[in-house]
Amino acid sequence: MAPVFNSLLLSWALTKGVAAWGSLGHATVAYVAQNYLTSDTAAWAQGVLNDTTTSYLANIASWADQYRATTAGKWSAPFHFIDAEDDPPTTCDVDYDRDCGDTGCSISAILNYTQRVSDGRLSVDHTEEALKFLVHIIGDLTQPLHDEAYEVGGNDIAVTFNGYSDNLHSDWDTYMPEQLIGGYSLSDAQSWANSLIEDITSGQYKSMATDWIDGDTTSDPVTTATRWASDANAFVCTVVMPNGSAALQTGDLYPDYYNSVIGTIELQIAKGGYRLGNWLNLIYSSGIAKRDLNAEDQLQSRDRDTLPEPELVSRDIPAASRSLSRAQLAREAMGGSCCSSGKRKHAP
Ligand SMILES: *[C@@H]1O[C@H](CO)[C@@H](O)[C@H](O)[C@H]1NC(C)=O
Ligand SMILES: *[C@@H]1O[C@H](CO)[C@@H](O)[C@H](O)[C@H]1NC(C)=O
Ligand SMILES: *[C@@H]1O[C@H](CO)[C@@H](O)[C@H](O)[C@H]1NC(C)=O
Ligand SMILES: [Zn+2]
Ligand SMILES: [Zn+2]
Repeated sequence: MAPVFNSLLLSWALTKGVAAWGSLGHATVAYVAQNYLTSDTAAWAQGVLNDTTTSYLANIASWADQYRATTAGKWSAPFHFIDAEDDPPTTCDVDYDRDCGDTGCSISAILNYTQRVSDGRLSVDHTEEALKFLVHIIGDLTQPLHDEAYEVGGNDIAVTFNGYSDNLHSDWDTYMPEQLIGGYSLSDAQSWANSLIEDITSGQYKSMATDWIDGDTTSDPVTTATRWASDANAFVCTVVMPNGSAALQTGDLYPDYYNSVIGTIELQIAKGGYRLGNWLNLIYSSGIAKRDLNAEDQLQSRDRDTLPEPELVSRDIPAASRSLSRAQLAREAMGGSCCSSGKRKHAP
């Protein structure tokens, strides 16, 4: 018993606080999304996840981070980010062909799992896997440093935040959101979500929300997700490091830098939730609902589980493998991971 317990504890320790948007951010995105699901979409998602609690999306929002931290799930690490090889703060831009590596990225993953989740030929487990990836990755996409190759998405920019030595990426994922909210439990996420929903419904985001989802279409997930990634990536130049990275390494990021970015963090979490809710509604209305009309053509899920699955998406892999860019080598040196805790410790 003891070794199992210890390894569970260890994997919890490894994933807690170092997740992409930390667990707080992902759960908040999920709660915001739940608020915007139609009752049909919600019932479908609850069925896929076999969870009828009021936290059905929030409960699985960080599953993909726990999965990538396991040996069996390491292959999925590239799905958490896209390494835009731009030049902040001078130039920010995302180019899907340039930046989505041979092993995939957040955008190709959204394409794959959008198609998979609404394809009735997949097993129950694989349909659930697809939904869990979507709930997580659409959140990751709104974290600006998940759309940036520079210094491995800021993981290699050592900074001090509120007395702790850590790295810029983990401050954006985890420590600045937790500074704002004062915790990372599901109930913290629910109350943060409630205040963001109020901002969307009648507050500071009311006039923006329709733009956040303008043009989103499940018939073209790559174009849609590239727009989301470009939108977040632009903040790397304007908000994350407008004066370059060295300017962030001269003193504590709290409170001045924190105050200059926390509004963007809230905006991006709200946006991620609103987009996720809309995306799942689109998947339901354009895919699931139409498919269910032909229910008699449907295989029973029991039968589905025994059939071979179609390969729905393949990416063109260049015939001759390219030599790796500096950014790709740096990402490899991090084991292909999105996020490191940077061995957080109290600054001397
Ligand atoms: C769904 O969840 C319930 C309890 O939460 C469990 O008893 C049941 O076996 C689950 N069903 C499936 C198909 O996993
Ligand atoms: C960038 O530099 C300008 C001008 O010195 C300053 O006003 C601003 O606060 C700086 N921003 C950050 C995030 O360091
Ligand atoms: C699509 O998802 C499946 C299931 O997770 C995975 O095996 C496959 O490699 C993915 N394909 C791409 C191109 O990402
Ligand atoms: Zn991250
Ligand atoms: Zn992630």
